[in-house]
Amino acid sequence: VRTAAIVPAAGRGERLGSGLPKALRLLAGRPLLVHAVQALVAARHVDLVVVAAPPGETSAVRDLLLPYGTDSELQVIGGGMTRQDSVRRALAVLPPDVDVVLVHDAARPLAPSELVDAVAQSVRDGRAAVVPGVPVADTIKQVDDTERVQATLARSALRAVQTPQGFRREVLERAHAAAGAEIHTDDAGLAERLGVSVYVVPGSDEAFKVTRPLDLALAETVLSRRREGG
Ligand code: C5P
Repeated sequence: VRTAAIVPAAGRGERLGSGLPKALRLLAGRPLLVHAVQALVAARHVDLVVVAAPPGETSAVRDLLLPYGTDSELQVIGGGMTRQDSVRRALAVLPPDVDVVLVHDAARPLAPSELVDAVAQSVRDGRAAVVPGVPVADTIKQVDDTERVQATLARSALRAVQTPQGFRREVLERAHAAAGAEIHTDDAGLAERLGVSVYVVPGSDEAFKVTRPLDLALAETVLSRRREGG
């Protein structure tokens, strides 16, 4: 079984407020994207990584990633206007022998290689679509457009899902083809729309998404704990 990992990394990252594309923000001296790619390349089950870079930054990103994988392990393409577009463009360049595809956000730089392998293994074992998820700590309320609460969801049945999300290639291709211009925030959502059963496997506290400036501080702390062997 050949497994490829797609990394949508073409977002502008305005919420971090730096002017730089988020994937290129530095964490312990290296861009978020580099951390994410290193974890994927280090995973046992990943044979190929395809990065969708910010449009206009493709060759800079290629240079940046040169030390982290050979040409056959690592490919950089131009991303699209939306995350979904970026994933679709990456899907289009996968070699024909790839049959399992992971999609992993550059914005989750510290997702452990063990998590990557667990997701890939679950797809290899027969699941069509797999997402890592963790229980939610906050109570989640659904509101209308005036912020009036409509419902309080039962927390025990909720999971906050992360990436990498894993798919049989054919399922992910079909999901993206069927979605058209309709926007979903994750790839599993596209598969659900087709009626595909999506399963949650245990996620990792370290696979959090870097969205706000505080997340960068947390990521620095995780890295220094790793360096100390904690
Ligand atoms: O903005 P958000 O944090 O949801 O982005 C999730 C991931 O999708 C990020 O890694 C971002 O770089 C990527 N993305 C992309 N192409 C876009 C927009 C976002 O690859 N046009």
